[in-house]
Amino acid sequence: MKDFMELAQSRYSVRKFDKRPIEGEKLEKILEAGRIAPTACNYQPQRIYLLQSEDAMSKINAVCRCIYGAPTCIVVAYDENRGAKGTEELAYEGFNFAEMDATIVCTHMMLEAWDLGIGSCWVGAFQRKRVHDILGLPANETVCALLPIGYPAEESKPSNNHYSLRDPMETVSIL
Ligand SMILES: Cc1cc2nc3c(=O)[nH]c(=O)nc-3n(C[C@H](O)[C@H](O)[C@H](O)COP(=O)(O)O)c2cc1C
Repeated sequence: MKDFMELAQSRYSVRKFDKRPIEGEKLEKILEAGRIAPTACNYQPQRIYLLQSEDAMSKINAVCRCIYGAPTCIVVAYDENRGAKGTEELAYEGFNFAEMDATIVCTHMMLEAWDLGIGSCWVGAFQRKRVHDILGLPANETVCALLPIGYPAEESKPSNNHYSLRDPMETVSIL
């Protein structure tokens, strides 16, 4: 396992993938990293879909331009009915933690993948309803992120954003 700072610093959004499939054992580890992620009240409202078949990959490619040739795509969804609900004391009345939980799950998977040498790109630019419908997901679920994953292509490299746009540490306020 890489040192965590090395892992976090070296990870970048991969936007060109090799077609080589990910070994089952590695996929299991990636999914396991998501499974053990923290969620509000441990309610685990996330719903994860692993797209690998030609049919599933062609469906997702039809509704999202950001799959970048990945052989596999993890679809991260959540069931709001299962999310911890806000109250007067907890966030606010009407708040639902489900999407926050699902994005933590996605982060765990993204970092575990990188630790295994597998790249990913967090994708938010897609129409939730179209992805939901084309995959035939249950009505109570909402898709919040796509994570195309796979081995980076030989010519894959970090975008300029990866290097240039992080705000300096001075943006952290110490109170
Ligand atoms: C919530 C979220 C949504 C994103 N959506 C997209 C996207 O739709 N397409 C894409 O190519 N990259 C997307 N990205 C990747 C960001 O552009 C990228 O993380 C950022 O530019 C920093 O680059 P780096 O990941 O290489 O360090 C998204 C990242 C996050 C966290």
